[in-house]
Amino acid sequence: MTQITHRPRRNRKSAAIRNIVQENWVSVNDLIFPLFLTEGKNKRSEISSMPGIYRMSGDLLLKEIESCLKVGLHTFCLFPSLNNKLKDKKATEGLNKKGLYPSVIREIKKRFPEAVIMTDVAMDPYSSDGHDGYVKNGMIMNDETLDILAKMALVQAEAGADIIGPSDMMDGRVGFIREALDDNDFTDVSIMSYTAKYASAFYGPFRDALDSAPKFGDKKTYQMNPANSKEALLEADLDMNEGADFLMVKPALSYLDIIKSLNDNFNLPIAAYNVSGEYAMVKAAAQKKWIDNDRVRDEILLSIKRAGASVILTYFAKEFALAQKK
Ligand code: PBG
Repeated sequence: MTQITHRPRRNRKSAAIRNIVQENWVSVNDLIFPLFLTEGKNKRSEISSMPGIYRMSGDLLLKEIESCLKVGLHTFCLFPSLNNKLKDKKATEGLNKKGLYPSVIREIKKRFPEAVIMTDVAMDPYSSDGHDGYVKNGMIMNDETLDILAKMALVQAEAGADIIGPSDMMDGRVGFIREALDDNDFTDVSIMSYTAKYASAFYGPFRDALDSAPKFGDKKTYQMNPANSKEALLEADLDMNEGADFLMVKPALSYLDIIKSLNDNFNLPIAAYNVSGEYAMVKAAAQKKWIDNDRVRDEILLSIKRAGASVILTYFAKEFALAQKK
């Protein structure tokens, strides 16, 4: 007999044994489902580069949330897709308390108080420049943007947002928003900071969804360089000290090392955004029958969890929840 002391295969010999030694599991409780809101009534249009994902008017979005709650999916991240006519240099519509976005948030929280609503703070859905910050002479003005972002966060908090998600990458915005929230008695409203948000080509389909691509230049003066990792630790340090409740890494898959490093170094929950381009690639290959959609989806979500994210924002959330129910 060959003498082999360690035979790791013993722990793989049956499904039950494999389950007992399995280190990581994905549950619907880990997932946040991004949803795209558009104007009108009874309107639903599929985003061509994101099969299965729709822009929905408020009435249909409420129904979508209801059906997600039934399969155990409770947390949603909302993005508004606005008519270009409503966009201007100062993102004025983002500060309109009676605008589409706060109105629908109010309606959701009234109908489904148990749903957790995360909102997006950045200028791009409302900006005629298609940038996350205020543009002057072709430059993104950090400190002038902070004022707008804080006002936007207040409008969303007043509408009932549970978690504010600053996705803009301006310096100092977490502290600035935290102070504005606290000064207005929104001490219970959380901040999930887009801490390490990289200047990534994987956001392409999302910009199609909102028609929010930059009108000039790119986002490299505020989003991070994909070549860097130390910078992610610096951003995380700042966000934690400025009062963030969650640290997010975005995108997820090309940045699993960043997820791990934040999880190893910070005592806050780590979130990862499995972005539009990552979703689109799976859908495109699965449509060609080159890969198995469900197995690849589950493997991707598991890899993000294993890297150290306890929260995953993903367009796969609803189909994952439905698959668990089968
Ligand atoms: C912008 C924002 C982006 C995403 C979320 N918020 C795109 C960008 O920075 O241009 C991308 C999400 C995705 O690709 O799924 N504030």
